[in-house]
Amino acid sequence: MMQAHSGQTASPLLAVRDVSVVFGGIVALNGISFDMKKGQILGLIGPNGAGKTTLFNCLSRLYQPSKGDILLEGDSILTRPPHRISEMGIGRTFQNVALFPNLTVVDNVRVGTHARSNSDIVSDSLRLPWIRRGEKDMNKRVDDILGYLELRHVAHTVVSGLPFGTQKRVELARALATEPKILLLDEPAGGLNHEEVYILGDLVRKIRDDRGITVLLVEHHMGLVMSIADHVVALNFGRKLAEGTPQQVQNDPDVIKAYLGSKDQ
Ligand SMILES: Nc1ncnc2c1ncn2[C@@H]1O[C@H](COP(=O)(O)OP(=O)(O)OP(=O)(O)O)[C@@H](O)[C@H]1O
Ligand SMILES: [Mg+2]
Repeated sequence: MMQAHSGQTASPLLAVRDVSVVFGGIVALNGISFDMKKGQILGLIGPNGAGKTTLFNCLSRLYQPSKGDILLEGDSILTRPPHRISEMGIGRTFQNVALFPNLTVVDNVRVGTHARSNSDIVSDSLRLPWIRRGEKDMNKRVDDILGYLELRHVAHTVVSGLPFGTQKRVELARALATEPKILLLDEPAGGLNHEEVYILGDLVRKIRDDRGITVLLVEHHMGLVMSIADHVVALNFGRKLAEGTPQQVQNDPDVIKAYLGSKDQ
């Protein structure tokens, strides 16, 4: 899919440029730069407190970096208001499932058209593009996505009654419903059992393969990252520790040291 033209490099879909975030006195991110190519699955790893969620929140416009820029197809996303995030083509899921528990699956997926929740970031990330295109089109697209993620049989089930793994798939469906160019996944494997993690990995790869969607995967589950990521960026203490193929990063002495020194492995 990626073609190398002689003497030219394809411009990145997303470019993170020297991004820093400071909270009070804490430097949560310190001059982070990396590129994401179209169609790539990029794994963002690092021990607890490394800055993964902070970076994720910059990409989804929840945090404004103190320094640096984030470019989507060459345009800064930081000058755009957070409620335009889904229109810009960035879809996200949440580390802790953020569905509307008393609504059915189908209503959760289509809720973006009139989402109002306590959290603006949830509403902002759910504005569906189809509102302009009419209800009939919307119903068909929701149905397509439910079929694609094998959720049709629970379409009219209230979300709170579903197993956690299924709820995570509903969240994925809701993010896909915003028709993103880039899908941001924050610890999608959290709370899933071994088999569910395996199914999720297949699904993320399928979404990329079928739809050409670029994926940023923040994940503690090293097995998942190493099996589906094309490219891995490792953070530690807010800095980029290493970057490369899963094998390169896994074997990087600094990465090994960082993980040995942390309690979460
Ligand atoms: N809203 C905030 N206010 C103050 N400090 C914060 C805030 N969010 C994160 N931090 C600090 O910034 C640093 C990076 O945190 P972050 O949550 O990004 O790490 P992480 O890599 O996602 O960790 P984990 O694997 O535990 O989820 C930590 O020192 C954290 O305490
Ligand atoms: Mg985190």
